[in-house]
Amino acid sequence: MSTTVELFSAPAAEQDLAVVNLRELEDRAAKVLQTGPFGYISGGSGDEITLRENVEAFDDYRIVPRYLTGLDEPDISTEIFGTKVAAPIFCPPMAAHGLAHITAELGSSHGWGEANCPYTMATLSNTLIEHIATAHPAGPKWFQLYFAKDKGLNAELLQRAKAAGATAIVFAVDLERPGNREADMKNDFHFPSILKFPNIPGALAGESLGEIMKLFKHGLDWDDVTFVREASGLPVIVKGLLSPHDAKMAIEYGASAIGVSNHGGRQLDNVPGAIVALPLITDVVQGRVPIFLDGGVRRGVHVLEALALGASAVGVGRPTLYSLALGGWLGVHDMIEHLKQEFALAMKLSGAARVKDIHAGMLVPQTTSIRFRQS
Ligand SMILES: Cc1cc2nc3c(=O)[nH]c(=O)nc-3n(C[C@H](O)[C@H](O)[C@H](O)COP(=O)(O)O)c2cc1C
Repeated sequence: MSTTVELFSAPAAEQDLAVVNLRELEDRAAKVLQTGPFGYISGGSGDEITLRENVEAFDDYRIVPRYLTGLDEPDISTEIFGTKVAAPIFCPPMAAHGLAHITAELGSSHGWGEANCPYTMATLSNTLIEHIATAHPAGPKWFQLYFAKDKGLNAELLQRAKAAGATAIVFAVDLERPGNREADMKNDFHFPSILKFPNIPGALAGESLGEIMKLFKHGLDWDDVTFVREASGLPVIVKGLLSPHDAKMAIEYGASAIGVSNHGGRQLDNVPGAIVALPLITDVVQGRVPIFLDGGVRRGVHVLEALALGASAVGVGRPTLYSLALGGWLGVHDMIEHLKQEFALAMKLSGAARVKDIHAGMLVPQTTSIRFRQS
């Protein structure tokens, strides 16, 4: 427990944001968030190589548009686990939305629910799962599990999430201990004691992430995937994979989807950007299960690129918290609607009528355009 005196307060505004693009939300949010919370949300680990690559590696591709296709309005809706959603975009799990806004997860889930896109309830939410679920009545809800040392608690959490309406479990396997996040070190960041973690008995408020993670199992193995699958009876998305070998193993152990992710560049630094890892994983998965990608998605063209390289949907992390900080549920809704519009425009201008029409042949590597310019 930190002994420093806290003067924590979270933003409370509820408003549309007139979003121009998702990138600018970070600078805008920096003005309304306190230093410690902003550092925790925005920061990555180490030299932040992976944090940057997550966004920048989308620029390694160029989209080759097709014209005269007769396409008027593209249809950006899709199906995820057999359920229709408004767009192939979802909210990935993030801890402690109470850092960003007084409505915490009630605000973020409301915003994503109004946009009719999937929302992931996190183990380390500041709100009870049952309450988050009621704020997101429309659209699929998923529950992210950090695997507690107490197996009984895992089973209980999974059953509670299912009873609250979760239709899939996101098993996050990449955070047995936090990466070295230097912003948090500099800011001596601890979760403010006013913010509770009500889903986890024993997760004391006022702790650092490292302290809280001591409640969770170290030394996870593939049998834990089997446990999560059997204890929940729900489809399991194994989240945090970057290696084709692990993707293959996950399918062998009954995963219903692969979550390609490096935790937003917050865990091991110098691992590949999510969009860099994706094609290798698509290659081994061979369409057997859907692939979900998160990390650095900030543009409609990024959504299109990820889908072209084999993802079924993409998660949008930090922009959710920035828009929550700036405008509560209305801000989150505004952010998603903006991204949907950018994605619809990308489909329209590249000639893709439906989400399933997006394919690898629409992309060329950026090096090709360099060679083209040099010839
Ligand atoms: C503030 C913050 C908290 C996070 N907490 C969790 C978490 O509790 N569980 C988890 O699986 N991933 C967590 N993540 C990772 C996200 O699920 C996701 O992988 C990442 O944010 C995607 O990258 P992006 O922020 O560039 O969109 C967190 C990310 C952020 C920014």
